[in-house]
Amino acid sequence: MILLAAIVAVGTLTAGLVVAVICRRLPSVRLQLAVFGVTVALLPLVAIISTGVVMFDSTHDLTIVLVASAGALAALVGAFVLGRSILEPMLRLRTASADLAAGHLGARADESGPTEVAEVARAFNQMGDRLEELFDARRQLVAWASHDLRTPLASLQAMLEAVEDGLAEPEDYLPAMRDQVTALGALVDDLFELARLDSGALTIELRDAGIEGLVESCLRGVEAEASARQISLETRIDDALPLARCAPEKVERVLSNLVRNALRHTPSDGAVAIVVRPDERELVVEVEDTGEGFAPEALRRMFDRFWRGDRARSADGAGLGLAIARGLVEAQGGRIWAENRQGGGGRVCFTLPAAASRGLVSS
Ligand SMILES: Nc1ncnc2c1ncn2[C@@H]1O[C@H](COP(=O)(O)OP(=O)(O)OP(=O)(O)O)[C@@H](O)[C@H]1O
Ligand SMILES: [Mg+2]
Repeated sequence: MILLAAIVAVGTLTAGLVVAVICRRLPSVRLQLAVFGVTVALLPLVAIISTGVVMFDSTHDLTIVLVASAGALAALVGAFVLGRSILEPMLRLRTASADLAAGHLGARADESGPTEVAEVARAFNQMGDRLEELFDARRQLVAWASHDLRTPLASLQAMLEAVEDGLAEPEDYLPAMRDQVTALGALVDDLFELARLDSGALTIELRDAGIEGLVESCLRGVEAEASARQISLETRIDDALPLARCAPEKVERVLSNLVRNALRHTPSDGAVAIVVRPDERELVVEVEDTGEGFAPEALRRMFDRFWRGDRARSADGAGLGLAIARGLVEAQGGRIWAENRQGGGGRVCFTLPAAASRGLVSS
């Protein structure tokens, strides 16, 4: 008797496992649930009938078959109802993703249904939001880049036409034309640098270098402008400063943009200071000014490409300097951020790793 029970138990278990494996191969969730539901209802009954027939020669076969059929039907209905509640949100998700793939960036999935399916829909919607943001940013980038390229080109064309029509002498316009060509060249260089940062084509060779020399050379470049506007330039460099692991020419470019920004936003009689201090295993470089500081929107967006606090003053710059600065600092293993100073004015800081590790970093 015990042997028979053991045989039936092992047989039931094996049959259950075989059905589970077969279920996994079925093409749809609905079918998998239906087959599994029917099996779960039938298997115990088959086991009971077979042991009953062997042991007692049962006379209640019809009743048992009816109970088995009712159980199987209930399991089938349950499987379909359950399958619907899982499949419907998944089908909606499939429709939304097909729409998104077809280029409808506003397509979103319904976030209802069982928790796991709703979580997938939520993740899909977040991906849609992010994609929409990225496409918007790209659209803006192209619009702003073409605007900034068109402005100096239009002014060059107007000056050329004036000279061609004899309305002005070439030498009247030569300095202005040179300025416009320089501005165009700088903008194209910046766009090229950003494209190289994006594509990973910019390979930065890191070496151990002192920051003091870079600070001095950067200040020399803006001395004339600062003294013309009576802005004092100050440096505060910690005595025990370690060497930095960096690409000096890239650090100089970052520093120069930060100092020029600070000068541009500091009124006459103000002050701009470069502070360099060690902090654990890195160096922190801070450019402080006594200007207007940063509005909340500036703090959020100033490192975005082409973002300028005051778009009307387009002659001041393209709004690419800080985006490039961030790319260059991060390519050297540092961070960059901006904050308001307590007594007024702004501070833009970046870090560089202290000299220790060696190697090539590709941005
Ligand atoms: N020190 C600062 N004080 C106040 N606002 C600042 C300061 N530095 C940057 N900003 C704001 O951040 C914006 C973006 O700066 P970013 O250096 O990227 O561009 P830009 O200086 O306008 O042009 P570019 O650097 O390409 O010549 C500036 O237009 C300005 O509104
Ligand atoms: Mg700038």
